[in-house]
Amino acid sequence: MPVSSPACVVGLGYVGLPLAVALAEAGVPVVGYDVSTARVAELQDGSSGIEDVADEATRTPGLTFTADVCDLEACQTYVLCVPTPLREGMPDLGAVEAASRAVASVLSAGDLVVLESTTYPGTTEEVVGPLLDAGSGLVAGRDYLLAYSPERIDPGNPTYGIGNTPKVVGGMDDASTKAAVRFYETVCDTVVQVDGTREAEMAKLLENTFRHVNIALVNEMAVFCRELDIDLWQVIEAAKTKPFGFMPFYPGPGVGGHCIPVDPSYLSWRVRKMGFTFRFVELAQEINAQMPSYTVARLGDLLNDAGIALSRSRVLCLGAAYKPGVADCRESPSIEVMRQLRRKGVTVAYADPFVPDLVLDTERLAAVPLSDLGAYDAVLVLTPHAGFDLELVRREATLVLDTRAALAPGENVYRL
Ligand SMILES: NC(=O)c1ccc[n+]([C@@H]2O[C@H](COP(=O)([O-])OP(=O)(O)OC[C@H]3O[C@@H](n4cnc5c(N)ncnc54)[C@H](O)[C@@H]3O)[C@@H](O)[C@H]2O)c1
Repeated sequence: MPVSSPACVVGLGYVGLPLAVALAEAGVPVVGYDVSTARVAELQDGSSGIEDVADEATRTPGLTFTADVCDLEACQTYVLCVPTPLREGMPDLGAVEAASRAVASVLSAGDLVVLESTTYPGTTEEVVGPLLDAGSGLVAGRDYLLAYSPERIDPGNPTYGIGNTPKVVGGMDDASTKAAVRFYETVCDTVVQVDGTREAEMAKLLENTFRHVNIALVNEMAVFCRELDIDLWQVIEAAKTKPFGFMPFYPGPGVGGHCIPVDPSYLSWRVRKMGFTFRFVELAQEINAQMPSYTVARLGDLLNDAGIALSRSRVLCLGAAYKPGVADCRESPSIEVMRQLRRKGVTVAYADPFVPDLVLDTERLAAVPLSDLGAYDAVLVLTPHAGFDLELVRREATLVLDTRAALAPGENVYRL
């Protein structure tokens, strides 16, 4: 199959849109398909809606957007980049299933289908393949090619993007793997081939579980280092001078985003189905989930020391998104911290240049400017976007709880 044959990217969010743009820039004609007509209209109007993708990129020659599955008929490669959330702690493959059915309705012999959504091992061949077969009347491996390739995109990362992040690919058979490798070589400098779809699915879960567990490790350390009066951030800086065998992770108010709090649950759910418990993941989840409450308790203690009751305090939270440089508030620990503060009677305001407003429980809050800092009893640094004037915060705030070690030390600045 020539790589310049038309490709379809299914799901035009943080993962799908950058891929669609990269493919089009590489000369592959791309139809971007999304079930959300609002999302398609936004893209057709020239607005990317994603920080890392410039609005102009939506007008890349060869790139079109549609919410009509009939427009996909001519495509020969389909890449599924749809969400894989949790519902009541369980994997919710509803979008993957719906996307598979949509692709099945236009699938032709010889086509290649690649799943990129993060999911438990077995999904490509046990869920996607059977739906494609049933809807198309074709047979995976015989009539069309089927592969999995985990997306490793790191929104807001100025160094690593699609081109220079190695891409792992595993097909259900040799022909599928080879076709998927050829496809990704059009946009990725390095394509790493594994034996099958399960290995590729598992590679992603290992990466994210590794991160999840190590963040939990430092979060737990942060709690007792406080009691021991040890500066954990200094400890990490010291440990990271070891040139081998150590990788730094940093504590914070919890974990957020679409991946780290969610993906390990896909793995532990799959492992549970076999009668095992994935103890590492469950412990890490427990520790990371406690961090918003720990942050609130720590702020309460600091305010108490200053003679102010938490319940009567005014607190400015810096950063609602789950990490710097993005607007994504999914699973953001900042939101959970703000919710808990409000439940304790705190008057909460927040600043975030990427998030103009948000809904906390049922109330809509608008972001406030980073000014008049003396009017707050405390400033709580949750997500230090590069645009924040942290020097101003250090100078003007009465009390700062810095959960990310983003500020230079000062008499009024406390770390988690
Ligand atoms: N965001 C990240 O940093 C990141 C990184 C690596 C992997 N992933 C994984 O990639 C997948 C997609 O994540 P995302 O962050 O791009 O999600 P997203 O919510 O930003 O975008 C998903 C898009 O898919 C669309 N969609 C939903 N159901 C659909 C369907 N049936 N057919 C067509 N379109 C549909 C939605 O309307 C939305 O526009 C998830 O499995 C996620 O875990 C995300």
